[in-house]
Amino acid sequence: MSKDKQVALVTGGNRGIGYELVKQLALKGFKVILASRDPEIGYEATQKLKELDLDVSCVEMDVANQDSIHQARAAINEKYGRLDVLINNAGVYLEKNEKLLAMTLAFWRKQWQLTSLAFTMSSVRLFLLWKNKVTGELLMFPQNMGR
Ligand SMILES: NC(=O)c1ccc[n+]([C@@H]2O[C@H](COP(=O)([O-])OP(=O)(O)OC[C@H]3O[C@@H](n4cnc5c(N)ncnc54)[C@H](OP(=O)(O)O)[C@@H]3O)[C@@H](O)[C@H]2O)c1
Repeated sequence: MSKDKQVALVTGGNRGIGYELVKQLALKGFKVILASRDPEIGYEATQKLKELDLDVSCVEMDVANQDSIHQARAAINEKYGRLDVLINNAGVYLEKNEKLLAMTLAFWRKQWQLTSLAFTMSSVRLFLLWKNKVTGELLMFPQNMGR
């Protein structure tokens, strides 16, 4: 890896918007870490991108689990010692035919937990990798529920 290559991490990078973000960042020249809560699925998604000759690696990370975030941070620190861009993409969203007003309290709890708590927790933990840098980029995904 080039010393100057910037390292980006995308949570929930194994599918959907996250997967595309991983791909686009790698095409732009970033070293991208695809974070996935299921290591096997994350590995498979990473392999697909590697076949396109993209500089992508994977890490297991459940953003709702403190130990998982801790382990991911330690692994990234050991392998790269830096993190320049963090994209908090992981989240739960309405399925295609789900209606906003039909959502259960359990769904709203999960949504709130992920957006408010997990995003903050993962960001704070991963910020620690920026401690020796002047700048870092953090992108939060708005949880637009207005469908
Ligand atoms: N699609 C839209 O129109 C839209 C609009 C506004 C905002 N958003 C937001 O944009 C983000 C991506 O949307 P999307 O449509 O690509 O969603 P998606 O296809 O449902 O993908 C969600 C991703 O988040 C991961 N994830 C969920 N809970 C997680 C957890 N606890 N820890 C780690 N990963 C977790 C999922 O992992 P698994 O594969 O393991 O489930 C999956 O990789 C979400 O935050 C969503 O709320 C989407």
